[in-house]
Amino acid sequence: MQTVYVLNGPNLNLLGKRQPEIYGYETLADVEATCREIADDAGLTLKFHQSNAEHQLIDWIHEAREDAVGIIINPAAYTHTSVAILDALKTCDMPIFEVHISNVHQRESFRHHSYVSLAASGVIAGCGTQGYELALHRLIRLLQA
Ligand code: DQA
Repeated sequence: MQTVYVLNGPNLNLLGKRQPEIYGYETLADVEATCREIADDAGLTLKFHQSNAEHQLIDWIHEAREDAVGIIINPAAYTHTSVAILDALKTCDMPIFEVHISNVHQRESFRHHSYVSLAASGVIAGCGTQGYELALHRLIRLLQA
């Protein structure tokens, strides 16, 4: 079975409780459950992870480069700061989708720049937690093409 990684960066463990006016009330467990349903229907194995540590995200990206066919990543604040995560993603020869729950372009100017976008096949921002579903559907479409 083909494997897809969904990776989540810092503070996303608090999804549902953290600034719900921006990020909504769905939890990361809710997001995972929805992604799992979609992946199951498509016959994909889903690896779904969250970490507050940059090195852990990089280690999962290294894992993904060996055994995955695609990566969906919400790097959270590391989006705007991490050359290391960009470099790790650049080693992966597969579709990569960057997801942001909020519309980062409507927020503080430091959120307007993304290092990760330089490695992303596509970027989804401002669609709420549905952004993960949209990214997964797009990835499945690419894998079936
Ligand atoms: C975020 C946007 C980032 O700017 C922020 O640091 C996050 C979440 C989003 O999903 O909208 O933690 O990636």
